[in-house]
Amino acid sequence: MKGEDKDMGKVAIYPGSFDPITYGHIDIIERGLEIFDKVIVAIAENEEKRSLFSVEERLRMVKSCFKDTSNVIVDSFKGLLVNYVGKTNAKVILRGLRATSDFEYEFHMASMNRSLNTQLDTLFMMTSKDYFFVSSRTIKEVARLGGAVEGLVPDLVVRRLKEKFKLPVPKKRRIGWDD
Ligand code: PNS
Repeated sequence: MKGEDKDMGKVAIYPGSFDPITYGHIDIIERGLEIFDKVIVAIAENEEKRSLFSVEERLRMVKSCFKDTSNVIVDSFKGLLVNYVGKTNAKVILRGLRATSDFEYEFHMASMNRSLNTQLDTLFMMTSKDYFFVSSRTIKEVARLGGAVEGLVPDLVVRRLKEKFKLPVPKKRRIGWDD
């Protein structure tokens, strides 16, 4: 059966930039785990896209969010997503859809991926109503300008954003990258 393996169960790839991970992403991953036995979070290394956090930083943040969840695997990839998916036993790409504005981009991406690999399907999940306005881009902008992003990204991401933008981090809450 598609996307299934006797030993591994149903596996989905959840690809993205995760620059940084938000509660919107986490919501999709958690809901994905209700459908799939394993979700592989695949962080894209795109040299052409300027990111705030390095791939290593993004990997550490995402891994830290799922350190107690054994069926979430966190990895990074370079190049075409379909090539990366081919190295795993996943047959499904999982993506969140926030609003109609996401649709065109997602439609093109899913269609291109399917044209590159006809065995691959993309499954879209509507983002929870609590996070439909949350994107990594707006999180970075708000954080850079000193606005509050608590409750929209995990605490460890709030701290990493403050450090990046050289905003004060309360001493008591200063913790390591992997906490
Ligand atoms: O979080 P994002 O930035 O919307 O994620 C986009 C991502 C990383 C999933 C997409 O850009 C991607 O798959 N990049 C890898 C390169 C690739 O395969 N491009 C062809 C897809 S049209």
